Parts: sequence; structure tokens; C-alpha cells
Amino acid sequence: MQPFTPLNPRVPFIWHGGDYNPEQWPQAIWDEDIRLMQECHFEVATLGVFSWVSLQPEEERFTFEWLDTILDKLAAAGRFVCLATPTAAQPAWMSQRYPDVMRAGENGVRWHHGWRVNYCPCSANYRRLAVQIARKLAERYHQHPTVVAWHVSNEYAGACYCENCAAAFRTWLQQRYASLDDLNQRWWTAFWSHTYTDWSQIEPPYANGERSNHALVVDYRRFQSEMMLECYKAERDAIRAYSPNLPITTNMMNTYPELDYRAWAREVDVIAWDCYPSVYDQPSDIAFAHDLMRGLRDGQPFMLMEQTPSSSNWQEYNSLKRPGVLRLWSYLAVAHGAEAVMYFQWRRSRGQCEKFHGAIIEHSGRSDTRVFHEVRQLGEELQHLGDRTLGGVTPAEVAIIFDWNNWWAMEASIGPVRDKRYVATVRQHYATFWKRNVPVDIVFSDSDFSRYRVLVAPMLYMLKPGVAERIREFVRQGGTFVTTYFSGMVDECDLAFENGYPGPLREVLGIWNEEIDALHPDQHNRIVLHDSDESYTCGHLCAITHCEGATTLATYGDDFYAGTPVLTRHNIGAGSAYYIGSEPESRFLDDFYGRILQEQQIHPVLTTPPGVEATLRQNTQGQLLFLLNHQDAPTQVALPPGKRYHDLLRDQEVAETLLLEAYDVAILTKA
Ligand code: GLA
Ligand code: ZN
Repeated sequence: MQPFTPLNPRVPFIWHGGDYNPEQWPQAIWDEDIRLMQECHFEVATLGVFSWVSLQPEEERFTFEWLDTILDKLAAAGRFVCLATPTAAQPAWMSQRYPDVMRAGENGVRWHHGWRVNYCPCSANYRRLAVQIARKLAERYHQHPTVVAWHVSNEYAGACYCENCAAAFRTWLQQRYASLDDLNQRWWTAFWSHTYTDWSQIEPPYANGERSNHALVVDYRRFQSEMMLECYKAERDAIRAYSPNLPITTNMMNTYPELDYRAWAREVDVIAWDCYPSVYDQPSDIAFAHDLMRGLRDGQPFMLMEQTPSSSNWQEYNSLKRPGVLRLWSYLAVAHGAEAVMYFQWRRSRGQCEKFHGAIIEHSGRSDTRVFHEVRQLGEELQHLGDRTLGGVTPAEVAIIFDWNNWWAMEASIGPVRDKRYVATVRQHYATFWKRNVPVDIVFSDSDFSRYRVLVAPMLYMLKPGVAERIREFVRQGGTFVTTYFSGMVDECDLAFENGYPGPLREVLGIWNEEIDALHPDQHNRIVLHDSDESYTCGHLCAITHCEGATTLATYGDDFYAGTPVLTRHNIGAGSAYYIGSEPESRFLDDFYGRILQEQQIHPVLTTPPGVEATLRQNTQGQLLFLLNHQDAPTQVALPPGKRYHDLLRDQEVAETLLLEAYDVAILTKA
């Protein structure tokens, strides 16, 4: 894989900056803001995210003068700007004049004005006014020397259930299905006499309406994700007409459930995302999120668009990041592909619902604070690193499939358990590799699998057309494929496959499932290996499986299906396909994948003590070995014998061992 080109050649270092909302403050403090930004190397300010009413106080009146002033001030101070369109929260005048702009909730009842992301993505008035303000901003500022990127709207989210959306949904369905008969057939509507006899009878899946039809529920999510994306594209295109060369993006949110980010990824120039781990998140979960975001554009570096410098305010317990953790988590992002380390937010607002959200400048207005000091230290380091980490590639030989449509279908489906635990399951498989410092790419049903040697598809319930064929080809060519219970159950319309699960994967796996058992959280079964004395607990779901070509490697230990296969392998062509029939304890995955990695000669980046992560990035300047100590205690890391490294952050040579302080980081290149 070729290294990538950096975000914008004019800013040849990791972007350090974040959300800045000067419109909330008197101009008297703007100079002070900029002076402090220079002091802590806050290089790229994201301006304008929620500035709509400040830029357009009435439909016919625009007030760009304040933005002119602050942009000029920032330019004079050598700062850069990621300029946002303000369309994530419409002004009150707009909701008042055009009630169709406002979103309707799940019961179809229109909300009142307030909060944010409270617009209907199908509202013609919203789209017209959003595109207009985007165009005006682009027209006015596309040549401004300080603008280096465009940030469209903010955190697209949710769904609307208004009558305009309902009408647009019917049109969308008419384009997607050959006829109403076709739709009835594929949605299995004869069940409970739900057959539609006219397109006009189809409604969104209102909470107080039709939710029994899973295909409808999944299609409505696809539709809303697409409509929201249409809004993004319309603004993007308006900007692009003036600003053809600057990157345009919007900020995503990890495994955000409502939007199919894989489809969105094709429309942005760079992935940007907002990372707010909670105190309950494991480091491997944060790493997974970065890898998921990197995967969206097939490994291209991404922007950490937002993180809090100290705490968030919307979680149940908003603990402070411990000293050193801001730095650690920033480099964690870089280690997984980030080329921007940005914050929400520069200055904390005095009123409203985020007045307790972390900021670089808190209500005290002071810079002699722990947070400011940590931000400044990080800013200095990133300046010092310069372009050394840019344009990198993660050399992964293992890939894990994640799929939003699959997730939606699984969540919509009633039975065999209420909580399917899809995301948790994907993370569990990921964590096994993470613990071993084996790089992983997160891929999608439409990705090119041929780049990898091991492909894992946990709970791939929905198989879209062609996916099973591409998996079979991957295995034939020598790949190792692993999938689990609750895979290959339904097609893209949520219609169950006939002739036995896992449907189109039956042939490659050489098995079929007869039944699936659901276990209560305190019930377990056992995975009993055939070639050793080991056994492991399993539970949640237990597929009852027959081999038709596959070899049984382990059987259930208990219950009426004791002795039937729970782990199988099928060799076809030059590769093999494994099936794990139940949710295993993590120790099983550690041992199972350990064997596969050994067989495949896939080696860890480095073997490190528990709690120390090692990742690799490769760019035109060579290999970068990142070492991250996720623990609150110092630890020694043994380096490969006989090799000398240069530690980029400490600017010194290292060999044999390296001491990492609590939450410490090192970035090593071969000396
Ligand atoms: C999101 C938004 C910001 C802010 C933060 C708070 O990321 O983009 O405007 O609300 O959350 O954590
Ligand atoms: Zn709507």
C-alpha cells in the first residue's frame, strides 16, 4: 500500500487546535484568545460551527463582518482555520417562518424549536437555506489565506418522522423496488395481513405505528442516513464550486448507530471524528474506534476533530482526564492514523447546556492551569514532531468486518435474544489482536478482502449480494476466514435464507445450523477442544450445527446438544474457514487466534508487558513504532535485541529497554 499524502501541504504537521466560538464573547477578549493560542500552539481553529444566527440574523440580512475580523486576526497571528458551515442548529427565525424545517419525533409529532440538529433532512426550506449559507461562506472566504479546510455542519444525527420524510421515503422505495408487489414479497408483508395495496399506505416506522416489519425499519434507517448525506453533499458541492482544492469533511462519531458511515466516507475528503471515551472504556475500545474510523476510507489518515482537554459533561460521571492522559490519548489517535489532534473546545461557554464541558480556557479565564499546561506541552511536542508521522499506513494483515446495515437488521430483529451485543462482540474479537499488538484493519462488506491474510466476520447476520462469493474467493486464494453464530441469516431485505443458515456461507464453512439456543446471562455451556484437554465457557447464543465437509475442532460440553460441533474448520482451495458457534469467554479467543496467528506466521509489532500497546505506522520516511503505556505506573519495555532506535519525542537514542512513565508515550524510528 502506498503512503498517503498529508491533509493539506500548507500545514505540514499534526493539526493541533479545535472549536473556537468567538461570537459568544465580546471582541475585547479575542486578542487575548489569540495570544494564548500562540502560547499553546493551538494552530488550527474550527470557526463557525454553531454561528448561523450570528451570520444571518434574519433571512434577508447577513453579518459576516465579525468573521472577517477574527479571520484576519487569526491570519495575522499565523493561525489556520478549519471553517465550518453553521447548519447544525437553525436560528429561531427559520423554525418560526418555515415550520417544515423542524424535525418530527418517532411518533410523527413535530418538535418545538430548540436544542440542535433539530431540522428535517427532507425539508426543502432547510436545504435551500443551508446551501445558501454554505455558498456565501465559500464565496467570501475561499481565498482567505488562513482557511485550510472546510467542516460541514456538525455531527449529523438522528432521524425525522415528518410527513415530508414519509413522502420522500415512498419515492425512495419506488426507486429501490421494481414494483409494489416486489416490495410486498421482499418485505414478507402477507404476514399479519400487512400487504400494501397502494404506495401511499406505506408509513415510516413510527413508534406508535408499524415496527413489526423489520425490513421497513432497516430501509427507513438507510433512507434517513441517505437523506442526511444528501444534505451534506448539497453543502459540500456548494463549497467545492468555489474551493476545489481544500479538504471538505464533517465530523463523525465512532459506532454512531444512525448513520451508515461507510456510505458517508465516499463523500468526504478526509474522515474526521469526535472521540469522547468514557471512564468505562477500555484502551482497546478507543483503539478500535480509531481503527474503525481509519477503515472508513480504506486506511487513509484521519482527523481527530474533537476530544475534550479535561472532561465532557454529558456522560453519567464526567471524570477528569488524569494528568498525562490527554497526551496519551492524543498519541493513541496518532498511533492509529490521526493527523489532527483537536479539541472541543477553546473557551468554555458561561451559560447553556455545555457550561460544565471541559475547555482549554475555563471560566477562570486563566492559563496557569493544569489543563492549559498539558495542552501547551502537547502542542510543543507536535510542533517538534513536524511531518515525521504524516502520510502513514498501518500494515495490517488481519481485518475485521463491521457493517451498519447488519447492525440495524440485527437490532430490529425480534429474537432470539433482545440484546444481540453486536458492537461488543466485534470489540471482543478486536481486543484479542490488540492485546497482542497485532495490527487490525476494520473493513466493510464492500471492502477489498484480498489485501489480508485473516478475515474475521463476527455476527455477520445480514449478507448482502456478492459478499459470500467474495469471502469464498478470499479463502480459495489462501485466506483464513473466521465467522460466528448468528451469521448468514438474512439477505439485504431481512428475509431469512432458506435451506439452512448460514445461508450463502454454508458452502465455504462446510456446515449448517439446525437451531439456535439463547442462554440467560447466568447460564453457560462449554467449548471442549478435541486436540487438547482445554475447555472454555460460552453462552449468549449457541448455534446447533451439523458438518457437511467441515472438521469438528470442538464440541459443546453440556445440555442436550453436548457433543455437537461448536468450533469447525473447512479447508477449501488454499485456505480455511472457521466457524465459532457460540459466544466464548475471551480466553478462548486469545488461544484460538493465537494459534491462527502462529500458523499464518503473523507476528506482533512487539511483545510488550500488559497495558503497554505497540503499533506500527509506515510512511516514506520509514517505520514508526509507537509505544503507549495505558497504566498509571511506570514500566520497562524490552526492545528487539541488537537494534538501535531514535526516540522522536525525547530526541535521544534508545536500545535494549525503554522506561515508560505512567501514561507515557514513545515514538521510535530505526536509528
Ligand atoms: C460534540 C459536538 C460539540 C460538543 C461536544 C461535547 O462532539 O460536536 O459541539 O457538543 O460534543 O462533548
Ligand atoms: Zn422530516
